[in-house]
Amino acid sequence: MSRLVVVSNRVAVPDAQSATAGGLAVALRDALRSCGGIWFGWSGKTAPQTADQPTMTEVEPVTYATLDLGRKDYNEYYNGFANRTLWPLFHYRLDLAEFSHENHTGYLRVNTLFAEKLRPLIEDDDHIWVHDYHLIPLGRELRARGVAHPMGFYLHTPFPALEVLLALPSHALLVESLCSYDVLGFQTENDLRAFRDYIQHEAGGEIVDANTIRAYGRQIHAEVFPIGIEQDQMEGASARAVEQGAARRLERMLHNRSLMIGVDRLDYSKGIPERFRSFERFLELYPAHRGQVSMMQIAPLSRSEVPEYKAIRDTLEGLAGYINGRYGDFDWMPLHYLTKNFQRETLAGFFRLSRVGVVTPLRDGMNLVAKEYVASQDPDYPGVLVLSRFAGAARELDAALLVNPYDHDGVAAALNKGLVMSLEERRERWQSMYAKVRGNSLEYWRERFLTVLRAVPTPMALRA
Ligand code: G6P
Repeated sequence: MSRLVVVSNRVAVPDAQSATAGGLAVALRDALRSCGGIWFGWSGKTAPQTADQPTMTEVEPVTYATLDLGRKDYNEYYNGFANRTLWPLFHYRLDLAEFSHENHTGYLRVNTLFAEKLRPLIEDDDHIWVHDYHLIPLGRELRARGVAHPMGFYLHTPFPALEVLLALPSHALLVESLCSYDVLGFQTENDLRAFRDYIQHEAGGEIVDANTIRAYGRQIHAEVFPIGIEQDQMEGASARAVEQGAARRLERMLHNRSLMIGVDRLDYSKGIPERFRSFERFLELYPAHRGQVSMMQIAPLSRSEVPEYKAIRDTLEGLAGYINGRYGDFDWMPLHYLTKNFQRETLAGFFRLSRVGVVTPLRDGMNLVAKEYVASQDPDYPGVLVLSRFAGAARELDAALLVNPYDHDGVAAALNKGLVMSLEERRERWQSMYAKVRGNSLEYWRERFLTVLRAVPTPMALRA
């Protein structure tokens, strides 16, 4: 089988930290291990100047090639255009999106640099798979350097509706760059539809069939590949973890009270302030639960140098203090708010102990926490998932209690419903969701994408 070249902003080089590598990192690593290849991207480190050459780490048969970014590149490309422009825009937060030409230039400059440094590492038969919004222009830059290889791109975030995308001054270049790839993967039908809308109504392209479009002189395969999780591992981990230290201590702390849990990167797209407000409404509207249930929100810090992320942290600290001050008692704390990071296995144990999983993003590409919550449940005594209809996962997990996170009273009612639901209904809903999570594993997602990518004719085949 030909080699695979994976490119992503962050690269999970196996080292001391590899114990904490997430499911996606492990799945991509496994794919690389089976056919050999390269994983290229940012090292996650900054330096005064961007490195001139990538650092190569060989872990046979995979080469990890990573670049340190200089402060200017890091600020303009990562903190700037990727996380202050594309991220909010793709999550429908035009109010938070900043449009700076300097950051856009930095974004293009780092993509060009990645293409220059990656080009010499590519071999004739390679297949190239690029990930996420940081690297949309990479394909175009590689094509400009003579790379005719099959190239796929997977967008882990939502793809915004036409009218939202049009607010981006450089939308045309961005979509034209997407069309340099042969295969485009999206999380949901919604995202694919939004992309097709742009092609048809803005780019003057043509929709050939359900998965084929023609635009900018190229034909592209665009398909929905909803990402999954390693359900087996999560299931095993939760059964083990629930018997161990952290979960045991949590159980003792609860004193037979019920627990509701939220786990998210501290990001405004996750709707955590809205969740806290809904929880407050819940305490107000359903006083019988006061003193009987606590909510634990785990929100590890993320992108802390971006001002909007600092602002949301302040908001949450204020809200948590307010709710606990108003409703708490000397022997009961309604809301536990932690920015500490936990190992996946520990979280799996916490999920299994929780009566309600609260996953209420304002907008999310997929949201794997929703699937992890489902996979972590005790089949005989499963908890209830309260899930935002704006998470990609809501398409598959339609047996969850689907909510509109902007509707605080509605979310409060769902939290109450989750707590009082009969065991029979809990089991029914859980079985339906579990079947979906099981049927669409991370490995299945990866193989589906790679099968389509490997079916793209190689330049050699085209010459033959
Ligand atoms: C989202 C993005 C990923 C990103 C992750 C963590 O899931 O889709 O590309 O790696 O967030 O964010 P960070 O900025 O820390 O890489």
